[in-house]
Amino acid sequence: MDIRAYNRTAWDRAVEEKSPWSIPVDSEITAAARRGEWQIILTPTIPTPRGWFPEELRGVDVLCLASGGGQQGPVLAAAGARVTVYDNSPRQLAQDRYVASRDGLTIRTVEGDMRDLSAFADASFDLIVHPVSNLFVPEIRPVWREAYRVLRPGGSLLSGFLNPVTYIFDLRKADDEGILEVKYSIPFSDLTSLSEAERQRQIDEGAALEFGHTLDDQIGGQIDAGFLIAGFYEDRWPDFVLDRYIATFMATRAVKL
Ligand SMILES: C[S@@+](CC[C@H](N)C(=O)[O-])C[C@H]1O[C@@H](n2cnc3c(N)ncnc32)[C@H](O)[C@@H]1O
Repeated sequence: MDIRAYNRTAWDRAVEEKSPWSIPVDSEITAAARRGEWQIILTPTIPTPRGWFPEELRGVDVLCLASGGGQQGPVLAAAGARVTVYDNSPRQLAQDRYVASRDGLTIRTVEGDMRDLSAFADASFDLIVHPVSNLFVPEIRPVWREAYRVLRPGGSLLSGFLNPVTYIFDLRKADDEGILEVKYSIPFSDLTSLSEAERQRQIDEGAALEFGHTLDDQIGGQIDAGFLIAGFYEDRWPDFVLDRYIATFMATRAVKL
């Protein structure tokens, strides 16, 4: 299966279905960002610490990586950054262009795969903002290597991702019956860990296909790519049953020295 093509269609549909990750920010948010009052998220709820960003955003080249939906990109552009939003879904990118045109912002949008940043030269960005999205690709070490390549020395990669424990449970059973049953091992893949019937149900529902990566690939992969991990926090999604027991989201600040 061409996972990139499949997930592109799934995310285009998610925009039509008004997924929370596809709802653009409103004009009040960008107006406040123009006044210097802004925040973004990498995980469901906790604002990314202001200290993770350069003190002054004006003139800073920012890559919003797999971050379409008219959310992080417009806020950072309104705060003064030179923003490129890179995403696999044309409809997600259209949300960023919609906000840019509505609020008079300049945002470059580029369609592509997060594992391949060949559209960008070495050392072209000062900051990469990469909210939770690497669950949609089977391998993530190429993402870290590419991010390292396109960052300038001294630049940072701010990433949100899922604790792999999320994927050991039968989440359908958790949703339907409120029972947490351990069923899968990590690394998890919707392509190979699910039964044929389970996978077909995902596909029939048009849901994006997901992958549960090891912490070795999530954190070790960033370190192996050359980054120094300089910041960390965990977050919860209030509606998600597992988050009553453990924070299933985390964020890292990785620095290219
Ligand atoms: C949960 S959304 C993240 C965007 C959102 N603004 C946020 O705050 O989290 C996941 C994004 O990953 C994108 N995506 C999925 N697979 C991708 C891939 N292979 N390369 C680039 N982007 C991808 C989707 O199109 C979607 O926009």
